[in-house]
Amino acid sequence: PFGPNSLAKVTEEEEMLRDAVRRFAEEVIQPRVESMDEAEKMDPEIIKGLFEQGLMGIETSEEHGGAAGSFTAAIIVIEELAKVDASVSVLCDVHNTLVDTVIRKYASKHLQDKYLPQLSESKLGSFCLSEPSSGSDAFAMKTSCRKSDDGKHWVLNGSKMWITNSAEAEFFIVFAQGDPSKGYKGISAFAVEKDMGVEIAKKEKKLGIRASSTCTVNFDEVKVPVENLIGEEGKGYKIAIEILNEGRVGIGAQMVGIAQGAFDKAVRYAYERKQFGKSVASFQGMQFQIAEAAVQIEAARNLVYNAARRKEEGRPFTKEAAMAKLYGSQIAESVSSLAIELCGGIGFTRESGIEKYYRDSKIGAIYEGTSNIQKQTIFKLVEGEMGL
Ligand code: CAA
Ligand code: FAD
Repeated sequence: PFGPNSLAKVTEEEEMLRDAVRRFAEEVIQPRVESMDEAEKMDPEIIKGLFEQGLMGIETSEEHGGAAGSFTAAIIVIEELAKVDASVSVLCDVHNTLVDTVIRKYASKHLQDKYLPQLSESKLGSFCLSEPSSGSDAFAMKTSCRKSDDGKHWVLNGSKMWITNSAEAEFFIVFAQGDPSKGYKGISAFAVEKDMGVEIAKKEKKLGIRASSTCTVNFDEVKVPVENLIGEEGKGYKIAIEILNEGRVGIGAQMVGIAQGAFDKAVRYAYERKQFGKSVASFQGMQFQIAEAAVQIEAARNLVYNAARRKEEGRPFTKEAAMAKLYGSQIAESVSSLAIELCGGIGFTRESGIEKYYRDSKIGAIYEGTSNIQKQTIFKLVEGEMGL
């Protein structure tokens, strides 16, 4: 029902990308959505397809095997994938906006030359920050890092929890504490290959995004070459949160995609469904609900693309990113809930493909910072802007 994004400055290239991703999502992902949700497992063909389509190194330079696209291009991809399946969307989101971006922005040339081509071509990445006792309070992590006696390695010990993509990943960005006496200024970031000794443990069973793997990841005396430190020692906390500022725009886009996907399916159904001798979409009560949802989706989409463009233009975007994620997750939940109601009993069944959007929407208020954390961020920035 909507045309291209209504915000100005979506380039022709970005729109072509949107069309290509839409085709891929409809042809390759859609037929597998229900079975992956049931099996709680990502189909490897989809991961392979994402790499083949050039969707796993969207902002990476061509020299490093990427598509040299814009941040907005990444956002478009995440939104389009989420219209069809939020699990595929988050797989692509974490890989691009968190993992690739850490390497592109903070890693040495050596690490970029080594890992970016692999990450663009075939190796899936994970971002390991959260731990059993540090979620919102992420900088209170216990996973430790210490230099080996010969000074050639960093040695990692600890457990990360709820790590997206970890069942399929071969590459991990890991945050670890090297000197607790320095508080969060003791945290460093590392590029870790699976075969350096990473152990994938318990896989969570979840309400939504069930095809996306979420596992505990253990590090037991994992030796990482010294050159795999990303950026400066003790600057890991800044890398983590600056990357999450960007990642939150991605989650906003995922939420807009979920809302739009549920909306499109439900409104089409309401046109076909007849009661009292006419289409249920012809009742004004239904039309007003549909109109409200359309406004919410449009508002959320504008927040997302506004934050993305601000980031690209080098303007402050932390507050806008938090707003996009907060509001996107709220409307994804309300619109997908309404979508079920618009479809009546059918909407409540697994077969309809509608209830899955509602289940998938719930994670938006939790990962990459809960809604309260986004509100805290927004409040601090508003307070600062007002000079209070
Ligand atoms: N942008 C930039 N810097 C920020 C920042 C932000 N949004 N928030 C905090 N900082 C900086 C501060 O400036 C300060 O640094 P300096 O001393 O250098 O100035 C430092 O961080 C500590 O600040 P606070 O004392 O305010 O921070 P805190 O310890 O109370 O909490 C936080 C900081 C951990 C970042 C918290 O605000 C937060 O965002 N928690 C949520 C964690 C999160 O998002 N986890 C996501 C895991 S990944 C994931 O979830 C992926 C997925 O599912 C798909
Ligand atoms: P808690 O921090 O324990 O929060 C519990 C409640 O307390 C929430 O309502 C929260 O809003 C509230 N609260 C906490 N602190 C405050 C405060 N200061 N003010 C007000 N309210 C507060 N992490 C990764 O590192 N990498 C991943 O790939 C990843 N993927 C994930 C995938 C899934 C499916 C899930 C469920 C989680 C994932 N996470 C990942 C972890 C995720 O980022 C955390 O779950 C999230 O940051 C919240 O932390 P927590 O679960 O410990 O909740």
